[in-house]
Formats: sequence, structure tokens, C-alpha cells
Amino acid sequence: MISNSKHQTSNPVDLSVDLGRGLHLPNPVMTASGTFGYGEEASGYFDISRLGAVVVKGISAEPRQGNPPPRVVETPSGMLNSIGLQNVGMEIFISEKMPFLRATGARVVVNVLGSSVEEYARVCERLDKVDGVLALEVNISCPNVKEGGVQFGMKKPLAAGLVKVLRDVTDKHLMVKLSPNCGDIAGIARAVEEAGADSVSLINTITGMEIDVRTRRPVLGGVMGGLSGPAIRPVALRMVHEVFRSVKIPVVGLGGIMEGEHALQFLIAGASAVQVGTATFTDPLAPLRVLESLSEYLQKEQISARELVGSLCLCRN
Ligand SMILES: Cc1cc2nc3c(=O)[nH]c(=O)nc-3n(C[C@H](O)[C@H](O)[C@H](O)COP(=O)(O)O)c2cc1C
Repeated sequence: MISNSKHQTSNPVDLSVDLGRGLHLPNPVMTASGTFGYGEEASGYFDISRLGAVVVKGISAEPRQGNPPPRVVETPSGMLNSIGLQNVGMEIFISEKMPFLRATGARVVVNVLGSSVEEYARVCERLDKVDGVLALEVNISCPNVKEGGVQFGMKKPLAAGLVKVLRDVTDKHLMVKLSPNCGDIAGIARAVEEAGADSVSLINTITGMEIDVRTRRPVLGGVMGGLSGPAIRPVALRMVHEVFRSVKIPVVGLGGIMEGEHALQFLIAGASAVQVGTATFTDPLAPLRVLESLSEYLQKEQISARELVGSLCLCRN
């Protein structure tokens, strides 16, 4: 367990970020959904309430088993996963996972999954009444079964239509998590902003696959999977900057953040906050390490987290 004692300095810099509609965080570092479970495992390593927020595994209306194994494979500079929609479902999450999270004092963001507008709405409406849930992160890259496999995150009218419905069923902060697997991520971001999203987070994984040449079979049980980790960081940074320039709502950046310096890159590109995902699989302390090194940098430079956001210098000399 790492000590909670904070280094005192004469001019402490402000790490806090206000993402709007009640999502006020003491610092900009969160966990990324699906890489931190429901916070239980990590709490053995450090006090998870030190993070800006904990984003939990995607929750659907009913429990789901997910895809057949193998569900994870290592790739150069990252990993491919096809976990599918596995999760405990909203009722078990509320009765068995939330009491623990509330007791830690962590700020909780719940990632919401659905295969229809109705399912997303059911989950958001239910979570709207749950104490200790500060925000809902709507994952719009799951297959929309009712639309014949079209994904919510791929088409502006579908993405906007979903967010409009969700805006009506919850007063909690609505963060919409964007898929990089669409042609125009800035356009989708603008569409969900207009529909009532309070913030956007990006990026989710990039679709990929691995093939075993001996068997000529896909390595993953789900055939295709999502690529995450350092390999996707330059793509994520580019998309965060593009979206930052296109919307007025806050942007939360993620994709391959392994070190504090990577988090700084995302803030400079325009992210108001960041999430740490795959890094946690190789180092359970990664989100805390990122936070500590980010705060050391800000302290040394005597600049607040907010001042750094979008400070990218595009001048040539
Ligand atoms: C094993 C695994 C499970 C994931 N599950 C979810 C999920 O339930 N909901 C979601 O929105 N994103 C999910 N993601 C995507 C991550 O939250 C994140 O967007 C992505 O991995 C990129 O960040 P990273 O490179 O820091 O991991 C998952 C990623 C991994 C690796």
C-alpha cells in the first residue's frame, strides 16, 4: 500500500477540473472502463479515492457472459481484447459493487452499455437514482442489434438520437465515449454535444485481429477485437485534438497512456482530463503513477491543470 502523505510545497498548483453538471474532480486522472473492474482489486494496492474518478466496467441492464475465449492477446505495443459485453448487470452492480465503491470515497463514473436505445435508457434511468454515481459514460461503440449491426458511434443521427433520449431520463453528467472506428469523430462529437452530452471521452479501442498461421484461425474467440495500449496513442492524440477544436464541451482523452508525460500530451492536445487503461494490466499502480508524475510536472512548472488544456503550440518558430 502506498502512503497517502502529500508533499507540501509553498505554492501548490491547482489540479482540479470541473467537467460540468456535478462532475467536479480533485485531479484529472481517471481509470478507463473495463481495465479497472469495479475498483476492488486495485484498492489492495492504493487508496483509489486519490484518483480524479474511477470509471467502472460497462454495465448493461441484465448480466452478460461476453465472448468465448481466448479473449485477450498481446500484440506489438498493445493488446487486442474481445471481452464482449461481459458484466454483472445493473442490479448486482448497484447492490454488490456500489456499497464498496461508496465506502472508498472514490468518485464513480459508470460506463453504460446497451444493444438498443431502450436498454441504454433503462440503465441510465436506474443509475440516475443511485447515490455515489457522479456521472454516466455512455459507450456508443457497441453493436446496435435493432439497427442490424450498425453501431451507434458510427452514425451521427443514431448517436444524437440516443443521447437525446438519455438526456431525458437522467440529470447526471452524461459523458459520451466515442469510437475511433468511424470516419468522422469530430462530426459525431458535435452531434452528441448538440443532443445534450456534457462531455465526450475518446478513444475506445480500434478494431483489429490476429491470425494463427498454423491453424489459420483467428486467435480471438470473438474473431475480431479492440486494440489498446501504446500502439494507439498517436491516433488517440490526433483525435482528441481534432475533437477539442470542434466542440465546446470538455474532452476526456485516453488511449495508450502509460506515463505522466503521455497524460500531459493529452492535456496539451485539448483534454481536460485523462483515463488510464491498458497500463493497469502491467502495473496496477499505473493510474496513481500517472497522477503523481503529472502533478510533479505541474508543480515544477507552476501551471494549473486547467491552464495546460489545449495549450498546443502550432507556431513554427
Ligand atoms: C480488457 C478491456 C475491456 C474494456 N472494456 C470496456 C468497456 O466495458 N467499456 C468501454 O467503454 N471501454 C472498454 N474498454 C476500452 C478502454 O476503456 C479504453 O477506451 C481503451 O482500452 C483505450 O485506452 P488504453 O489504451 O489506455 O487501454 C476496454 C478495454 C480493455 C483493454
